Amino acid sequence: MTLQIRSLEEYNEVYKQSVAQPEQFWAEQAETFQWHQKWDKVLEWEFDTPDVKWFVGGKLNITENCLDRHLAERGDQTAIIWEPNDPNAPAKTYTYKELHSEVCRFANVLKNNGIKKGDRVCFYLPMVPEMAIAVLACARIGAIHSVVFAGFSASSLADRINDAACKMVLCSDGNFRGKKQIPVKAVVDEAIATCPSIETVIMLKHTGQEVAWNEKTDKNWAEELTKVDNVCPAEIMDSEDTLFILYTSGSTGKPKGVQHSCGGYMVYTTFSFKNVFQYQDGDVYWCTADVGWITGHSYIVYGPLAAGATTVMFEGVPTFPDAGRFWEVCDKHKVNIFYTAPTAIRALMAKGLEYVTPYKLDTLKVLGTVGEPINEEAWHWYDEHIGKKNCPIVDTWWQTETGGIMISPLANITPLKPTFATLPLPGIQPVLVNAEGEEIEGNDVEGYLCIKFPWPSMIRTTWGDHERCRNVYFNRFKGKYFTGDGCRRDEDGMYRIIGRVDDVIIVSGHNLGTAEIENGINQHARVVESAVVGFPHKIKGNAVYAYIICDGDIDDVDALKKEIIGTVSKEVGPIAKPDKIQFVPGLPKTRSGKIMRRILRKIAGGDRDTSNMGDISTLLNPEIVASVIEGAEAV
Ligand code: WTA
Repeated sequence: MTLQIRSLEEYNEVYKQSVAQPEQFWAEQAETFQWHQKWDKVLEWEFDTPDVKWFVGGKLNITENCLDRHLAERGDQTAIIWEPNDPNAPAKTYTYKELHSEVCRFANVLKNNGIKKGDRVCFYLPMVPEMAIAVLACARIGAIHSVVFAGFSASSLADRINDAACKMVLCSDGNFRGKKQIPVKAVVDEAIATCPSIETVIMLKHTGQEVAWNEKTDKNWAEELTKVDNVCPAEIMDSEDTLFILYTSGSTGKPKGVQHSCGGYMVYTTFSFKNVFQYQDGDVYWCTADVGWITGHSYIVYGPLAAGATTVMFEGVPTFPDAGRFWEVCDKHKVNIFYTAPTAIRALMAKGLEYVTPYKLDTLKVLGTVGEPINEEAWHWYDEHIGKKNCPIVDTWWQTETGGIMISPLANITPLKPTFATLPLPGIQPVLVNAEGEEIEGNDVEGYLCIKFPWPSMIRTTWGDHERCRNVYFNRFKGKYFTGDGCRRDEDGMYRIIGRVDDVIIVSGHNLGTAEIENGINQHARVVESAVVGFPHKIKGNAVYAYIICDGDIDDVDALKKEIIGTVSKEVGPIAKPDKIQFVPGLPKTRSGKIMRRILRKIAGGDRDTSNMGDISTLLNPEIVASVIEGAEAV
């Protein structure tokens, strides 16, 4: 079995060894999995190109490790508990045996529809168990899944499909979100009108709503299942074959297809899952993320299943039918480990304790957070009212690109410190550097967070554009992976993530690129130019503030704002909608034409004092600052 660290002394010892002899350390972890052929070499790497390979020459299939190898010992144990949006609808469970059978059947559906190893399959699905089944079915036959969060717009979906030239889309007719029914198939229809690579759409009937049907491309999920059996030998994959692509926002408009490979991702997600959450046999574990994000990939599907865990999948939202839903579900399914986002905690905290007190929450042992820094107030509320001061909170720092949790407490093993992600996992070597790229040693320091040695689940490339991967992550600080985050290491050597230092805004834990939102805004006919920044928001952590230059006079400011918000919703997706819009006569720019976001960020954050904005005399248009400040008052 994969190592599970059981004491602080052991953590210290293992960490030391993992850094002194990383290859030996990870080889020992990898040995605990099923391989068709062992690797010839543990690691080959250089961070210039970059070129990173783990378990070189090893052959495996991740689904055999998530499913087949558990059948003898825990075939009848529950693998997935699915809790639907409607609290009165029955929950659904799958044992490991059943899940294995469903995965094999759907893998045969994929094959029947022409999907082969290496083909890309796009997912645009709500949180239904079929999503996890289909993800694993792709992995079973070596197809590459690209899951797109089902809240993205048709044009965002089309961009992602086209970037990876997906052959197939898996979708549902619609999606339940609280009281609402949201169309899904209609969005896919609109998207694929501009996606020549799509040959087939397989639609799962879920809400029962009306959909348009194209006889040429569209297939019915349930009907396809009747044509196949449940025998599907796993495709034998190379360690470095691609397992999936997941798009994440970047500092230019185009999202990046972060690419992960089979072997290293399997080893690291399993290792980190077992150690961070200290999962014990029989525990019920619930991560509230959507499989559309990396958290859902690594810590709803692959990590927990490879570890033989019971994992809960939830279709709904935290506030439906009321703000007690999470806690009701914790009691109902006797959840032991609960992992969510700070934005959800803040939203529920704001609704008041009357939604918490009706529930016992007495099965909880470990709590976790992910996605953004958690503020002190939310940390304490979570600790007192949900954990009853009895459950460690693991504040897990990581990224789509890192594949797994990098800096985090190990529950009940290593120390906690509110708002700190604390210490690196074994094998992870974080460093802080200054703007010149020099390593900052010692404690009580701040800098750019980099990782100086490879780890198994790290990004291998960005789909179709390796140069972009180099540029974004490996170029700024030579010989290091740059995270894009600012970070403090305190007097005890504990890490605290301060926030992004690039043009990414984290809204409710979702990564949004400023360029992507600006491109959306600029689609509106009256917009000449725009700049967006984040500003502090009580529930969302950050929200989007848009500065917009329009042509001509504006008669009805509110109507135009509404229209622009509608444009962003359509072009990028509702999560990218600006909370505040300010129409401006110009944007502060450097002489080279770069928008001074630093100044805009200060103004959006409520600063009205030009002396706090740094030297503005060197700007191309220094006079514009006063006018933007004046206009901000009215927003
Ligand atoms: C931020 C999510 C502080 C950070 C798994 C990172 C966090 C970005 C934390 C990645 C945390 C994530 N504390 N900040 N515990 N977790 N972040 O790719 O800025 O969606 O770079 O991956 O979220 O977001 P992503």
